[in-house]
Amino acid sequence: MTTPAATSARRKLSLPAAPTLPFPHHPGSSLSVTHFSLDEITHLLYRAHVLERENPLMRNNRFAKRRLGLLFYEASTRTRTSFELAAKSLGIDTTLISNLSSSIEKGESLKDTGLTLRAIGCEAIILRHNSSGAPWLLEHFTDLPILNAGDGQHEHPSQAFLDLRTILSRISPDHSIGESDLTSETLKGFTISIVGDILHSRVARSNMLLLPRLGAEVILTGPPELLPALATTMGPGITIERDFLTAISRSNTIMMLRVQSERLAGLDLDLNEYKANYQLTAERLAACPHSPFVLHPGPIIRGLELTADVADCPQALILEQVHNGLPIRMALVERAFAALDALESPPMLFTREHRS
Ligand code: CP
Repeated sequence: MTTPAATSARRKLSLPAAPTLPFPHHPGSSLSVTHFSLDEITHLLYRAHVLERENPLMRNNRFAKRRLGLLFYEASTRTRTSFELAAKSLGIDTTLISNLSSSIEKGESLKDTGLTLRAIGCEAIILRHNSSGAPWLLEHFTDLPILNAGDGQHEHPSQAFLDLRTILSRISPDHSIGESDLTSETLKGFTISIVGDILHSRVARSNMLLLPRLGAEVILTGPPELLPALATTMGPGITIERDFLTAISRSNTIMMLRVQSERLAGLDLDLNEYKANYQLTAERLAACPHSPFVLHPGPIIRGLELTADVADCPQALILEQVHNGLPIRMALVERAFAALDALESPPMLFTREHRS
């Protein structure tokens, strides 16, 4: 709620009032981890478990011949392939539009690209975009469920859910398959360090918004250029420890992040100094008293944020994370189509009033 004092301060600074979102999000969308209650996340983990074990021929009939669009404005290996295979596993036909080989290159807008996908019968869209907030706009323009596959420096919800499944599978298998309800105490006493390029990382942001809700302590560690002090204001349960070795020595899990060279414009980062201070090496990992697991959303850059021997060591769960992406994304796609089926009227292809 806006207080009179806040309004007065804003007038003095001539700042516009924060806009209120003019549209509710579609019940089948997954835009942000904050839109999911702990009960919904428990259910998501349960559905991932069930769908993963289901007979593929049965699973293939769930949404046979329905259509889904994959709309990718940025490169992706893991997210794109796993969303595509997830949809196909449920019998859904998919089509891919990439910014590099489509009419986006000719200047077609996000709105018109979304409406085009809708006009060819797509009932949901997986969107990766370099602008934070793009999935909200696409949902507004199309009225379709939008599954956020990473928006700018904002969020990557499906990555945070698969990271959660990976963590829980090692420390609480009942929770990882949705057999026990997630609560604010599920990860009590569990500490995770998120390391490196926090500033540009939507993976870090989604995990920072999710893991403390389950009671986890999140320690952020990285140089000031990549980890501004205000990162702790994201929510409770988040602290900054600039000393990498101190942070990882307190941790049960270490989440390494790629230095996002494509987003470093204007930042003067000395990579040799970065490696000296923040690279995860076998020696540094071996010195950690809690034998922490190592996570990384990928793609990994061997020899930069972590050494090759760490990437390949038994404590590294990086490929397990990739593996968990498929069932989690099956559950998210199922949720989107189940929400569509629960709506009274199906989405219209042409006769809608186009919003400006
Ligand atoms: N973790 C992740 O988003 O990887 P991709 O960029 O390969 O999809």
